[in-house]
Amino acid sequence: MKTIILLSVAVCLVIATVIAESNSKQQPWMNTNLDPKDRARALMNQMTAEEKKGMLYGYGCQSKEWPYVGNVAAIPRLNIPSLKYNDGPQGFRDDAMPGSTTAWPSGLTAAASWQRETLQAWGEGMGKEFYLKGANVQLGPGVCVARIPRNGRNFEYLSGEDPFLGYVLVQDAINGIQSQQVVANAKHYVNNNQETNRGSVSENVDERTRFEMYYPPFVGAIEANVGSMMCSYNKINHVYSCENNGTLMTDLKVRMGFDGYVMSDWGATHSLSIEQGLDQEMPSNNFFNQTNLDSKPQHAIDDSVVRILTGFFAVGVMDKPNPNQISSNVTSIEQNDIAQKISENSTILLKNVNEALPLQKTNLKVVVVGAQSWQPVVHGGGSGQVVPAWVKPPLWSICDMLGVDRIDPSTGTLSKCSSDNGNCVTYNDGSQNPPGTASKDYNVAILFIQTSSSEGSDRPNLSFANGQDQYTTNWGQVKGNSFRKVLVMSTPGAVLTPWADGMDSILLNFMPGQAMGDAITNVLFGEVNPSGKLPLTFPNKENEQEMAVAQYPGLQNGENATYSEGFFFGYRWY
Ligand code: BGC
Repeated sequence: MKTIILLSVAVCLVIATVIAESNSKQQPWMNTNLDPKDRARALMNQMTAEEKKGMLYGYGCQSKEWPYVGNVAAIPRLNIPSLKYNDGPQGFRDDAMPGSTTAWPSGLTAAASWQRETLQAWGEGMGKEFYLKGANVQLGPGVCVARIPRNGRNFEYLSGEDPFLGYVLVQDAINGIQSQQVVANAKHYVNNNQETNRGSVSENVDERTRFEMYYPPFVGAIEANVGSMMCSYNKINHVYSCENNGTLMTDLKVRMGFDGYVMSDWGATHSLSIEQGLDQEMPSNNFFNQTNLDSKPQHAIDDSVVRILTGFFAVGVMDKPNPNQISSNVTSIEQNDIAQKISENSTILLKNVNEALPLQKTNLKVVVVGAQSWQPVVHGGGSGQVVPAWVKPPLWSICDMLGVDRIDPSTGTLSKCSSDNGNCVTYNDGSQNPPGTASKDYNVAILFIQTSSSEGSDRPNLSFANGQDQYTTNWGQVKGNSFRKVLVMSTPGAVLTPWADGMDSILLNFMPGQAMGDAITNVLFGEVNPSGKLPLTFPNKENEQEMAVAQYPGLQNGENATYSEGFFFGYRWY
C-alpha cells in the first residue's frame, strides 16, 4: 500500500514538472530563437509593478540568507532566479570557505601576456568556478586604464596604461566568462584611477580624453556584449559617477550604445538616479526601493528591467537553471594548471645578460634568496582577493626541478644536494649577507622580491619594503664571472629598480596567482619562453612625470584631481 502511494506521488510530481516545463517553454520569452532583448521585454511585460521595482536593488553580503557578495531576490512565479553576484576580477572570493576556489593571476598579469587566447582561457577558467559556485554574475573584469603608477588597484585592471590593449583584451576575457553561463561586469566606470579619496574625489577630465583614453576598454566590453557594468565611487567633473547623466546616460548608453545594465559599486549610489542611467543600487535599497521608485516614470523602470534581464537571457541563465551551491569546492589540479599556464604566458624577461638564463639542470649550485620564494605573496588585496587553498613555494618548485629533496626553512633545513646530478639548493631569507666575492659555493643566486597593494589606498611609494631593495643591491655587488644573479619580482604594477645594473637577469610576473611556483620555475629553467610584455611603464624615479598635486592626488583636500596631462601619461608622456 505504502509503495503504491509513494509511486503515485512520484508520478504526479513528474507530470506536474512536465506541465510546468512545457508551459514555460510555450511562453514567448522562452523562445530561444528570439533576440535576448525581445525575450527580456516579453518577460518584463508579465511582471507586476512590485516585481519590476524589486529587480532594481539588491542585498549583501555573504550572510546565510544572502550568501553572495550581492543578491537580487528571485521571482519564482516567473522562473526568474535570484541574481547572485560575486567578487571578483581574479577569481571567486569566498570568505566563508577560503581555499575552495582558484586564485588566478590578476587582470594586469593576464594582460602582460598580450595574448588574446590567454585572456579567453583566464575568463573561461574563472567563469567556470563562478558557475560551479552557483553564481550568475562575476564582478569583473576590471578594465580602468592606469593613469597613476601608485594606484592601489592597478593590479586588477587588464588595460595597463593603454586603452587599445584594454579594448582588445577585455573582449576575450568577457567572451571567456560569459561562455560559462555567467554574466560579466566591466568595472569601474569610469575614471576610478586612484584609491586616495576614491569616495569623494572629482576626476576632472575633458570629453576627448575620456573618449580616447578611458572609454575604449568599456567600448570593447560593449562590443563583446558584456551584460553589466559597475559605476564607480568617484565623481567625474563634480558629479558622482553613479548619478552622472553625462557619462552614464549620454556617453555610455546613448553614444556608445550599451544596452546591458549599470549596477552601482557597493554603496556608491547617492540618489534615485534611474533617469541619469543607473539601473540598480547595490547592495541596498536606500534610494532605489518600492516607495521611492513610484515617483519615477514607468518607462524608466521598464527600461532598467529589460536591460537587467537581457544579459541573463543572452548567456543562458534563464534557459538552464544553475543547480550549484556556494558551498562547493571548485578548485582542482586542472584549474591550477590553467592558472599556471596563464602565469607562464604573462612572465616578462626584462633583462638577460651573460647568458644567465635559462639555468642548467645539472651541476647547478643555487642559492635562493628571499621570503617570497618560501611564502610568496601572489595576489593583491581588497574585494578582489582570493585566498588559495595551497601555494607551492617557488623554493620547492626549484628543488623539484633540480631533483633535490625539498628543503624546509620552517624546520631549519636550509640546504640540500642531490647525490646523482651535482645540484644543490640553499635558502637564505635575505637576512644573511651575500658572500663578499663569488664563492665556489654557488653558480647562481635567484633572488625573489615582492611588493603588493590593496583596494582602498594607493601605494605609499614604488619601492620594495622590508629590506628587499637593500639585499638586492648587496647581492648585485658580488663580483665574479661564473656567479650569476637572477631576480624574480612580483609586483602589483610599476616599481623602481635601482639595483637593476647589478642583476644579470630580471623576470617580472606581476601578481601571478596561486600557481606561481611551478610557473616561474619553468621559465627559469627554459621549459617556457618568457614571452610577456609590459602593459605599463616602469619609471626611473617617483613621479618622474612631475604630476602636480592638482593632478594627483588632487587639490582641496584631494577633492579635485584634474587630468591636465590629457593623453600624456605613461609611455605617451615618455
Ligand atoms: C569594490 C568593487 C567590489 C565591491 C563588492 C567594492 O568595494 O570597489 O570592485 O565588486 O566592493 O565587494
